[in-house]
Amino acid sequence: MNRNHLEETRHGEPVHADGDVSTRPERRTLGRRRFLRMAGLGAGTVALAGAGSLTWRAVQEGVFATGIGPAYAAWDQWHPPGHDVLNLVRAAVLAASAHNTQPWLFRAGRDRIDLYADFERGMGSMDPLRREMYLSLGCALENLVLAGPPNGARPTVALMPDPAQPALVARVALETAPATRSPLYSAIPHRRTNRGAYDTGRPLAADAREALTGLLDVDTARLVWFTTGVDRHAFGELTVRATQEIIDDPRQAIDDFSWYRTSWQQIQQTMDGITIDASGQPPLIRAAAKLLGTSLGQNHDGWLRATRDAHVATAAAFGLLAVRDPLDAVQRIQTGRIWQRMHLWATTRGLAMQPLNQVLERIDRERSTELSPQVTDAMAGMLPTGWQPVMAFRIGYPTIDALPSPRRPAEQVRLP
Ligand SMILES: Cc1cc2nc3c(=O)[nH]c(=O)nc-3n(C[C@H](O)[C@H](O)[C@H](O)COP(=O)(O)O)c2cc1C
Repeated sequence: MNRNHLEETRHGEPVHADGDVSTRPERRTLGRRRFLRMAGLGAGTVALAGAGSLTWRAVQEGVFATGIGPAYAAWDQWHPPGHDVLNLVRAAVLAASAHNTQPWLFRAGRDRIDLYADFERGMGSMDPLRREMYLSLGCALENLVLAGPPNGARPTVALMPDPAQPALVARVALETAPATRSPLYSAIPHRRTNRGAYDTGRPLAADAREALTGLLDVDTARLVWFTTGVDRHAFGELTVRATQEIIDDPRQAIDDFSWYRTSWQQIQQTMDGITIDASGQPPLIRAAAKLLGTSLGQNHDGWLRATRDAHVATAAAFGLLAVRDPLDAVQRIQTGRIWQRMHLWATTRGLAMQPLNQVLERIDRERSTELSPQVTDAMAGMLPTGWQPVMAFRIGYPTIDALPSPRRPAEQVRLP
């Protein structure tokens, strides 16, 4: 999946194939310079004009504005005073979702919230079996449920409650209860997918692994760890190989890139997708990428490099959530809830996490086409018999503070 796919920009090169955006500043600067020369103005004035133009472009592309504007307001306004039922939805929209697609809709009444899948917000060939969509819905559901008690509501969940309505993913009945707080709930606005390098000098403590494993609450889900050198190497190699295969698959490459947001205006409008700021890259590289834009090719080169040199190379451990039946909606939703819970718990402990699902995205691609099941077989060899993978990740201690991703506010995803 497309996450840390920034290409380090090449100095002074006018870039980009598939966006006129990137060529605009160059044209604007040159035009102005030529105009000033023609007008007989000196080099100092030209330099000032150039700097002004660059500054204007930088402001336009949000180089100086990280995590602000309407696209990020949901993070600040997640728990307004009072016990409004909409507060549960405000918490839910801050959940993780594949490619930040936010494939959810909510119908919120006083004593019930229904969670719906928004099938329009799929990822095409990147998620042909909708595995990641249902996992994402599970993530939102977990936040919603965690938000009940702090908002004076005791939730009772029914998953896929109506076979006649496949989009109705969960019905959450709410009973009035005394308000209580919880560390996982408090972690909701602080959780981030961290795509930076992790601290290679700090191994993951065994008790952290045990605590994370202890968060699983259904016997249809299982957490498999890859912690030894051999296991980590095998899973890391397979992840890099799957990344290359996605990039080389024209359909998947396009579907992946379509959720990548390349301009500040686009982020503020769509309030979704993967952004440069969430890439985990250092500030200078992010600034350059925002200024120059990123083509599909550059994006994918950067993704492959980041996967190999940062994500895989610096992980303290890899983990994988497996289920009995990967096509079963309930098992997927339950696993999404578990992932969100694990990530919130890790947040309370200062641990960084990042899903790494390229292998699974290739498995689903193999399953939904005529492709031979090479990645499927390679993965199966790394899992206990009878278990199928649905969500893979890396974990470790962060070396950077990850930045927030945009969100559509609760009001925008609420059904009448
Ligand atoms: C089912 C699922 C699959 C995901 N797969 C990946 C992945 O393969 N690589 C990655 O970097 N992030 C992955 N993510 C993380 C999302 O991209 C991330 O949650 C989203 O962009 C919002 O950012 P946030 O988690 O920082 O709020 C996944 C998340 C979910 C729920």
